[in-house]
Amino acid sequence: MSFERLDEVRAHRRNDALQRGINPRDIDLLLSDLLEKPLAWLIAHGESKIDAAPLDALLQRRYDGEPLQYIRRRTEFYSREFYVDDRVLIPRPETELLVEAALARAPQQGRVIDIGTGSGCIALTLERERADLRVIAVDRSVAALAVAAINRARLDSHVTLVASDVLSGVAGTFDLIVSNPPYVPLAEYEELTVEVRIHEPRSALTPGPTGLEIIDRIFDEARPRVAPGGSLLLEVGYGQEQAIRALAEAKGFRIDAFLPDLAGIPRVVISSPHG
Ligand SMILES: C[S@@+](CC[C@H](N)C(=O)[O-])C[C@H]1O[C@@H](n2cnc3c(N)ncnc32)[C@H](O)[C@@H]1O
Repeated sequence: MSFERLDEVRAHRRNDALQRGINPRDIDLLLSDLLEKPLAWLIAHGESKIDAAPLDALLQRRYDGEPLQYIRRRTEFYSREFYVDDRVLIPRPETELLVEAALARAPQQGRVIDIGTGSGCIALTLERERADLRVIAVDRSVAALAVAAINRARLDSHVTLVASDVLSGVAGTFDLIVSNPPYVPLAEYEELTVEVRIHEPRSALTPGPTGLEIIDRIFDEARPRVAPGGSLLLEVGYGQEQAIRALAEAKGFRIDAFLPDLAGIPRVVISSPHG
């Protein structure tokens, strides 16, 4: 074990990261985790001696393309910390828009279901923000549900977790059906960065050639399961607006709104069954 000055380790590794196209902030976050100290401490205690080997081991994973969130085993979503590992998609900031829209539409005591819950980020956030809601979260992946269960325990939540292929494993009707389904067309998936394609679960990202395969099923299965006055809210992909409009119409839904994300991309579709 060899000890080096913290400020020298930071400067050297941050410079190295920059040259590899990695955000140098990652160095500080990993150091902060390893030393169990905040960033301000790292900056103020540059003369401290540390063993850089554990940092270098984590950095090698980062340089091999593993997302920082998996290495750190956590990410932030809607101002809460969620445990993540490679069994689930890393929650994305644009999905917070779906949560906002769901919170605005959920009636008091409403029954809500989240299809394809992954880490549980949508379902658990809805329930933590609105304790009156009765929230069920489903996923076809039992591995993903195990991660959602970790987050449920950590957030002291009461969301019901169920293994289900779309809605086949649950009964009843819902005031809100929400989902961030896999929607990346297969050809686009093949073009994604190594970070996403190699490390995140394929079944969370692409449903098949068109990208619309699971959305199509959700419209079909949700049609008889939306309670009177209720809605279906979906996150969708870049360039899918026209196809979604046609699909919704064909499946007996009207589009109430298409909400753009911060980049101006139509991202969340709010729809309700016709009459
Ligand atoms: C895009 S990820 C969304 C994860 C999480 N809700 C989020 O927003 O970060 C899609 C999720 O849908 C799940 N999934 C894929 N096909 C499914 C199906 N047929 N029925 C239920 N869940 C499915 C995947 O396992 C994955 O967890």
